[in-house]
Amino acid sequence: MSLIDDIISKCAKKNVKLEAEEIKKAIDALDIMLTRSYSKYSNIKVACVLCFKNGDIVGGCNIENSSYSHTVCAERCAVFSSLSQGKDLSQVKAVYITSSEDSYFYPCGACRQVLKEFVSLSVPIIILKKPKNIYNGNSEVHTLGELFPCPFSL
Ligand code: THU
Repeated sequence: MSLIDDIISKCAKKNVKLEAEEIKKAIDALDIMLTRSYSKYSNIKVACVLCFKNGDIVGGCNIENSSYSHTVCAERCAVFSSLSQGKDLSQVKAVYITSSEDSYFYPCGACRQVLKEFVSLSVPIIILKKPKNIYNGNSEVHTLGELFPCPFSL
Protein backbone atom coordinates (compact mmCIF):
# COMPACT_ATOMS: atom_id res chain seq x y z
CA MET A 1 0.00 0.00 0.00
CA SER A 2 1.33 3.47 -0.85
CA LEU A 3 2.15 5.91 1.93
CA ILE A 4 -0.80 8.11 0.91
CA ASP A 5 -3.31 5.23 0.80
CA ASP A 6 -2.03 4.09 4.18
CA ILE A 7 -2.67 7.57 5.66
CA ILE A 8 -6.15 7.73 4.08
CA SER A 9 -7.19 4.37 5.49
CA LYS A 10 -5.74 4.98 8.98
CA CYS A 11 -7.45 8.39 9.19
CA ALA A 12 -10.74 6.87 8.00
CA LYS A 13 -10.56 4.54 11.01
CA LYS A 14 -10.45 7.70 13.16
CA ASN A 15 -13.51 9.04 11.28
CA VAL A 16 -11.46 11.62 9.36
CA LYS A 17 -11.73 11.70 5.58
CA LEU A 18 -8.59 13.00 3.84
CA GLU A 19 -8.01 13.39 0.09
CA ALA A 20 -4.83 12.24 -1.64
CA GLU A 21 -4.20 15.76 -2.95
CA GLU A 22 -4.23 17.38 0.48
CA ILE A 23 -1.92 14.69 1.87
CA LYS A 24 0.53 15.31 -1.00
CA LYS A 25 0.49 19.03 -0.23
CA ALA A 26 1.15 18.32 3.44
CA ILE A 27 4.07 16.01 2.64
CA ASP A 28 5.57 18.63 0.30
CA ALA A 29 5.32 21.15 3.12
CA LEU A 30 6.94 18.69 5.56
CA ASP A 31 9.84 18.30 3.12
CA ILE A 32 10.38 22.06 3.00
CA MET A 33 10.20 22.29 6.79
CA LEU A 34 12.83 19.55 7.20
CA THR A 35 15.22 21.65 5.11
CA ARG A 36 14.65 24.59 7.48
CA SER A 37 15.34 22.63 10.66
CA TYR A 38 18.15 24.23 12.68
CA SER A 39 19.47 21.19 14.51
CA LYS A 40 23.27 21.37 14.56
CA TYR A 41 23.43 20.03 18.15
CA SER A 42 21.24 16.94 17.94
CA ASN A 43 21.48 16.40 14.17
CA ILE A 44 17.82 15.38 14.28
CA LYS A 45 15.59 17.24 11.84
CA VAL A 46 11.92 17.47 12.80
CA ALA A 47 9.05 18.97 10.83
CA CYS A 48 5.40 19.56 11.68
CA VAL A 49 2.59 20.70 9.41
CA LEU A 50 -0.89 21.82 10.41
CA CYS A 51 -3.58 21.39 7.73
CA PHE A 52 -6.69 23.52 8.07
CA LYS A 53 -10.22 22.72 6.88
CA ASN A 54 -10.05 25.54 4.30
CA GLY A 55 -6.93 24.02 2.71
CA ASP A 56 -4.40 26.32 4.39
CA ILE A 57 -1.15 24.74 5.54
CA VAL A 58 1.30 26.06 8.12
CA GLY A 59 4.56 24.34 8.97
CA GLY A 60 7.22 24.47 11.63
CA CYS A 61 10.62 22.91 12.27
CA ASN A 62 12.81 22.37 15.31
CA ILE A 63 15.10 25.29 16.07
CA GLU A 64 17.94 24.52 18.45
CA ASN A 65 20.20 26.79 20.45
CA SER A 66 23.69 26.51 21.91
CA SER A 67 21.93 27.07 25.23
CA TYR A 68 20.07 23.79 24.71
CA SER A 69 16.99 24.50 26.81
CA HIS A 70 15.99 27.33 24.49
CA THR A 71 15.34 24.85 21.69
CA VAL A 72 11.86 25.01 20.19
CA CYS A 73 10.25 21.82 18.88
CA ALA A 74 8.77 21.63 15.40
CA GLU A 75 5.23 21.20 16.73
CA ARG A 76 5.29 24.30 18.89
CA CYS A 77 6.96 26.22 16.08
CA ALA A 78 4.02 25.27 13.79
CA VAL A 79 1.41 26.19 16.41
CA PHE A 80 2.99 29.55 17.26
CA SER A 81 3.59 30.36 13.61
CA SER A 82 -0.10 29.66 12.86
CA LEU A 83 -1.31 31.77 15.76
CA SER A 84 0.93 34.66 14.79
CA GLN A 85 -0.54 34.51 11.27
CA GLY A 86 -4.01 34.89 12.77
CA LYS A 87 -5.15 31.32 12.06
CA ASP A 88 -8.01 29.73 13.97
CA LEU A 89 -6.55 26.47 15.26
CA SER A 90 -9.99 25.05 16.02
CA GLN A 91 -10.12 24.60 12.23
CA VAL A 92 -7.10 22.26 12.10
CA LYS A 93 -8.06 19.07 10.26
CA ALA A 94 -4.82 17.08 10.55
CA VAL A 95 -1.35 17.40 12.04
CA TYR A 96 1.65 15.80 10.30
CA ILE A 97 4.99 15.14 11.96
CA THR A 98 8.14 13.71 10.45
CA SER A 99 11.79 13.51 11.34
CA SER A 100 15.13 12.35 10.03
CA GLU A 101 15.07 9.50 12.57
CA ASP A 102 14.57 5.85 11.69
CA SER A 103 11.78 5.47 14.24
CA TYR A 104 8.42 7.21 14.65
CA PHE A 105 9.06 10.55 16.35
CA TYR A 106 6.20 11.26 18.73
CA PRO A 107 5.48 14.78 19.97
CA CYS A 108 7.00 15.46 23.39
CA GLY A 109 4.81 16.11 26.41
CA ALA A 110 5.19 19.88 26.19
CA CYS A 111 4.07 19.89 22.56
CA ARG A 112 1.08 17.67 23.35
CA GLN A 113 0.04 20.16 26.02
CA VAL A 114 0.45 23.11 23.65
CA LEU A 115 -1.41 21.34 20.83
CA LYS A 116 -4.22 20.51 23.24
CA GLU A 117 -4.60 24.19 24.13
CA PHE A 118 -5.67 25.03 20.56
CA VAL A 119 -6.43 21.91 18.52
CA SER A 120 -9.39 19.52 18.91
CA LEU A 121 -8.57 16.22 20.66
CA SER A 122 -10.23 14.39 17.74
CA VAL A 123 -7.66 15.65 15.21
CA PRO A 124 -5.42 12.93 13.75
CA ILE A 125 -1.68 13.22 14.33
CA ILE A 126 -0.02 11.57 11.33
CA ILE A 127 3.55 10.48 12.00
CA LEU A 128 5.97 9.63 9.19
CA LYS A 129 9.63 8.60 9.09
CA LYS A 130 12.12 10.16 6.69
CA PRO A 131 15.59 8.82 7.53
CA LYS A 132 18.28 9.37 4.87
CA ASN A 133 15.85 11.75 3.17
CA ILE A 134 13.48 9.00 1.99
CA TYR A 135 10.09 8.18 3.51
CA ASN A 136 10.50 4.81 5.16
CA GLY A 137 7.58 2.48 5.84
CA ASN A 138 4.05 3.61 6.40
CA SER A 139 2.46 5.99 8.85
CA GLU A 140 1.22 5.91 12.41
CA VAL A 141 -2.00 7.77 13.07
CA HIS A 142 -3.26 8.63 16.56
CA THR A 143 -5.72 11.29 17.58
CA LEU A 144 -4.42 14.00 19.87
CA GLY A 145 -6.75 12.61 22.56
CA GLU A 146 -5.15 9.17 22.25
CA LEU A 147 -1.67 10.66 22.58
CA PHE A 148 -2.69 12.94 25.44
CA PRO A 149 -5.28 11.32 27.71
CA CYS A 150 -6.48 13.10 30.86
CA PRO A 151 -5.14 16.48 29.70
CA PHE A 152 -4.50 19.36 32.05
CA SER A 153 -6.64 22.42 31.48
CA LEU A 154 -7.91 25.47 33.39
N1 THU B 1 11.95 17.76 19.03
C1 THU B 1 10.88 18.21 18.31
O1 THU B 1 11.03 18.99 17.36
N2 THU B 1 9.65 17.78 18.66
C2 THU B 1 9.38 16.97 19.73
O2 THU B 1 8.22 16.77 20.05
C3 THU B 1 10.48 16.33 20.45
C4 THU B 1 11.83 16.88 20.17
C5 THU B 1 13.29 18.21 18.65
C6 THU B 1 13.93 19.09 19.67
C7 THU B 1 15.40 18.88 19.37
O3 THU B 1 15.79 19.78 18.35
C8 THU B 1 15.47 17.47 18.79
O4 THU B 1 14.13 17.10 18.49
C9 THU B 1 16.07 16.45 19.74
O5 THU B 1 15.44 16.48 20.97
